[in-house]
Amino acid sequence: MFRRHKITVIGSGATGATTAHLLALKELGDVVLVDIQEGIPQGKALDMWESGPIEQFSMKVLGSNDYEATRDSDIIVVTAGLPRKEGMSRNDLLKVNSEVVFDVVQKASRLSPNAVIVVLTNPADVMAYVAQKASGFEHHRVMGQAGVLDSARFRTFLADALNVSPKDISAFVMGGHGDDMVPLVRYSYAGGIPVEKLLPKETIDRIVQRTRTGGGEVLSLMKVSAFYAPASSLAEMVKAVLLDERRILPVISYLNGEYGEHDIYVGVPAIIGGNGVEKVLEVEFTDEEREAFKKSVASVRGPLSLLTWGPKA
Ligand code: 2OP
Repeated sequence: MFRRHKITVIGSGATGATTAHLLALKELGDVVLVDIQEGIPQGKALDMWESGPIEQFSMKVLGSNDYEATRDSDIIVVTAGLPRKEGMSRNDLLKVNSEVVFDVVQKASRLSPNAVIVVLTNPADVMAYVAQKASGFEHHRVMGQAGVLDSARFRTFLADALNVSPKDISAFVMGGHGDDMVPLVRYSYAGGIPVEKLLPKETIDRIVQRTRTGGGEVLSLMKVSAFYAPASSLAEMVKAVLLDERRILPVISYLNGEYGEHDIYVGVPAIIGGNGVEKVLEVEFTDEEREAFKKSVASVRGPLSLLTWGPKA
C-alpha cells in the first residue's frame, strides 16, 4: 500500500531545523526532527507544522527526543554535532563529532534498516565514513553533503561575475570539504558555454579561492556556521533520493577503486537516486587537477587515520 515518505532529521540546530522546514515546504514527506535537547525539536517541529495551513503543505512535522519516533524512515539526515566556531577548522570537530555521529546513526539505522543516510556533520567526509561504520549499511546507501553546497557557492559567484542567473550555471566542486577542495573550472558552464571563455583568468582564480573558503566567510561574518545554503543542499539530495531523480550531484561518496582511491569517503560527482549513490562518475583530470584532487583526498585521510574506533568498531 502506498504511504508517504518519512524523513528523519537528526539535530534540531539551525541547519537541522531549516532542513526540516524546507522538506515540509517542498512536500517531500512527513518529517521527524530528533535531538537530545528536551523541548527544542518538539517546539521547533510544532511551530513548523503550524505553518502548513498557510504554506499549503500536508506533511506532518514531529519533534522528539526518542528515536522510536523515527522508525521506518526512508531517509535519515544527520546534522547532529558541534558546528565550527570562528578560528576552528572543520577537523577540530573530529573527536567530539565522530562520537556523536556514531551514536546517533547507530540508534537511527537500527530502526530504519532500509534507509539512505545523508551526513552533513563536519568534518563531513570523515563523518560519512563513521556513519557507514555505525550503520553497517551498504556503502552506496550512505553519503555526505558538501559538494552541493560548495558548488552552489561556486555557481553563485560565477553567476554574479557574469551578471547572469545562477540557474544557468553548471559547475561542480570535488575533493574533501576543506580549504583545498577542488572547484573544476574546466567543467564549468554558463548556458552551455565554458566559463573560461567568458571570464578573465584572474576573476576565475578569485572565485575559486572564495569558494574554497566560502564556509569560513559566512562564519566570520555571523560567528556561527552557515545553515541556509547547507539546508538547501540537504533538501536537494533528499529530493533526488526520494523521487529517484537520478540527478548528477557532487556528493561525498565511498570510493573503492574510483579515481584510484580505496576505502575513503570524499566528494565526487555521482548519480543520486532511490538507492543513494547509484554510480560514481569519473571525470578526466589534467595533471594539475589530479594533483589538487590527490592533495584534497590526503587532507581527508589524515583525520580519518586519527579515528579511534574502540570497542564499537
Ligand atoms: C560550510 O558552511 C557547514 O561546513 C559547512 O561550509
